[in-house]
Amino acid sequence: TSTFRIAPSILSADFARLGEEVENVIAAGADVIHFDVMDNHYVPNLTIGPVVCEAIRPRTKAPIDVHLMVKPVDAIVPMFAKAGADIISFHPEASEHIDRTLSLIRDNGCKAGLVFNPATPLHYLDHVMDKLDLILVMSVNPGFGGQKFIGEALVKIADIRQRIDRHVARGGQPIWLEVDGGVKVDNIRAIAEAGADTFVAGSAIFGARGADGSYRDVVAALRG
Ligand code: DX5
Ligand code: ZN
Repeated sequence: TSTFRIAPSILSADFARLGEEVENVIAAGADVIHFDVMDNHYVPNLTIGPVVCEAIRPRTKAPIDVHLMVKPVDAIVPMFAKAGADIISFHPEASEHIDRTLSLIRDNGCKAGLVFNPATPLHYLDHVMDKLDLILVMSVNPGFGGQKFIGEALVKIADIRQRIDRHVARGGQPIWLEVDGGVKVDNIRAIAEAGADTFVAGSAIFGARGADGSYRDVVAALRG
């Protein structure tokens, strides 16, 4: 599999035509569907849940990458697994028992991810590297699409890249390093150089539908 993955955030899609939007971004060359779940409690916004995941599941073979911005986390995990999620990530601050939640996700047949807000310290990684399939670095504060990339995230990405490479060199499983928030055509190269391999983009993609009605040009521009 490619180590440069584009993950459109459907938060910025046209929700009245969501199935079509999902098909169109994947047809345009994107790799993963990023699915933002907000609960108006952990973050000050309210979005979509398992029924919407279930509705888009038959529209694509691409992995659905569920980003939970909800607290508490555990009760919703089996529901997303049943709804067809491939990857489920959560914020460590939102779970009382991080190790347990990671096991719960894998026990439900999904890949597991941990998400770091701009001010969340990386020590949450210390004892759970074996249980992770993905690490998601927020380069904005979670809650809304269309915010500006916080440059400090590059330092964090570089730090995590070293941890993942050390882990893999010791025989550990591969772990995706994903970045989310303010990713655009003009900064994605620098983010890749810092060590990310999976790039969430919401407004950059869905705000750039081409004259032909497709997202081909913007996805190709992000790939560079
Ligand atoms: C923010 C979400 C992001 C968001 C990204 O809380 O997690 O996935 O949709 O949107 P852009 O790419 O517009 O910053
Ligand atoms: Zn997200």
